[in-house]
Amino acid sequence: MSVFGALFIAACVCLVLFSLYNGIGPLPTSQRVKEALLSRLIDLKGPIIELGAGWGTLTVLLAKKFPDKPIVAYENSWIPYLFARIRLLKYPHVTLLRKNFWEEDLSSSGTLICYLYPQAMERLKVKFEEELAPSTLVITHTFAVPGWKPISTYQASDLYRTPIYQYRMPKL
Ligand SMILES: C[S@@+](CC[C@H](N)C(=O)[O-])C[C@H]1O[C@@H](n2cnc3c(N)ncnc32)[C@H](O)[C@@H]1O
Repeated sequence: MSVFGALFIAACVCLVLFSLYNGIGPLPTSQRVKEALLSRLIDLKGPIIELGAGWGTLTVLLAKKFPDKPIVAYENSWIPYLFARIRLLKYPHVTLLRKNFWEEDLSSSGTLICYLYPQAMERLKVKFEEELAPSTLVITHTFAVPGWKPISTYQASDLYRTPIYQYRMPKL
């Protein structure tokens, strides 16, 4: 087997192992969902935190739309992280961290954005309620924060009419 063949197989194994560990693979937000999501993002409070940057698909859009806001994106899976790292080189206001966001303190977030999966949203609800300051904006698509009342819900024009939820962290 050639060196490239061996590297390719190692990269695939790494991708699969992290996807199993995280409970989700680096599935990027689709074009229609990106368009719908960005059309409603007017003036976000920084720092903008993205939980699970994947290949950097949403991060690049946020970086372009908010060039004067600090953006921090977490991605712990090596292959998408390295890909996103290259994509984000020209955006110095973006900090991409190869870290597990469950181990991070999110209390300094102004806006939080994610596209994850139902079990993660259940766990994040608890983390958000423990850590986020009142009035932090939380944006998620496809999966809602269970039990929270969104300040707005709208749908992308894709086949699934993907819902996009915005929440304002309540005073508890
Ligand atoms: C569905 S993808 C979304 C990618 C990107 N946000 C987008 O919308 O295009 C979810 C990403 O979250 C990452 N992820 C899941 N759990 C994580 C964790 N605990 N820490 C860091 N990244 C995580 C996965 O590796 C995956 O790349």
